Amino acid sequence: MSFKLQPAAPDRLNRCQIFGPGSRPAIFEKMAASQADVINLDLEDSVSPGDKDSARTNVIEAVNDIDWGAKTLSVRINGLDTPFWYRDVVDVLEQAGDRLDQIMIPKAGNAGDIYAVDALVSAIEAAKGRSRPIGFEVIIETAAGLAHVEEIAAASPRMQAMSLGAADYAASMGMQTTGIGGTQDGYYMRTPTGENHWSDPWHMPTVAIVAACRTHGLLPVDGPFGDFSDKEGFIAQARRAATLGMVGKWAIHPKQVALSNDVFTPSEAQITEAREILAAMAEAEASGQGAAVYKGRLVDIASIRQAQVIVRQSEMITR
Ligand code: COA
Ligand code: MG
Repeated sequence: MSFKLQPAAPDRLNRCQIFGPGSRPAIFEKMAASQADVINLDLEDSVSPGDKDSARTNVIEAVNDIDWGAKTLSVRINGLDTPFWYRDVVDVLEQAGDRLDQIMIPKAGNAGDIYAVDALVSAIEAAKGRSRPIGFEVIIETAAGLAHVEEIAAASPRMQAMSLGAADYAASMGMQTTGIGGTQDGYYMRTPTGENHWSDPWHMPTVAIVAACRTHGLLPVDGPFGDFSDKEGFIAQARRAATLGMVGKWAIHPKQVALSNDVFTPSEAQITEAREILAAMAEAEASGQGAAVYKGRLVDIASIRQAQVIVRQSEMITR
């Protein structure tokens, strides 16, 4: 630990982000009625090039007209390598009201990408007198994004969250897979007794994103899991992400929302255990000890920090 305190991530829930194509306005009300903490109205890859203009209009109307409740509301703009992105930013920020919380920047490759969008957004906000600054969330889904993940995390005070985008990441890295996330056929170790031991090909970028986010006070999020009929596969992927420190996962189908909320909501047993650890440590501290024994295992000051993460999460959910 350096002498500087690790900054806290935004104090809000992000257990599930539900996506919907901006070209499919019939599902917007269903998204608003879902149990997801974050809504992502998409202008990027789920919208075909011919529908970009009408999708933008749909999304602006939806931001203004639909009751999104307490959800975090975000619009995914097109990538900076397309002719669409500047108009996404200009039209959405000029015409959608202050209800919009964030824009999501896909395929972030370096801090300059974030700076460029920040410059445009800052000018529009100043011209239009927006009452609160728009936040940014980005997707790390290219080789450049992974190589520059930390400078991207630090690129703007607008930065709120980072997601791992498995499909574009796999394509950019030249990985031999066509699946969107999850266990991959070719990624296993062979045990001495001849069994295949499956490994997690998303481990490294997941940890890189968590480290960059935790260093700079952002929320790390696991991206899409394409096979929405594979419930167990989704749960396994989400559990790995949660165990490594991510706070939530995307849903690309309503079926995935409850699964994600379940994995990223601490269970009663976890909350009870965390509170008991805090109590055991308070007792130890009162008697001048820095460590204690809880259920036959060592707990120390680091255990307090781990337990506090779980207790804080449960407080955010019940408040
Ligand atoms: N959000 C809210 N509701 C949705 C939804 C979404 N993303 N996708 C589907 N629904 C609704 C459908 O309208 C349908 O509602 P109904 O029961 O009232 O008729 C119900 O959920 C079941 O939908 P289903 O028929 O199983 O799916 P579909 O064939 O209509 O759509 C997808 C499947 C994958 C095309 C669609 O879910 C989708 O577009 N997902 C988001 C894709 C996306 O945004 N990708 C970008 C990020 S990777
Ligand atoms: Mg992508």
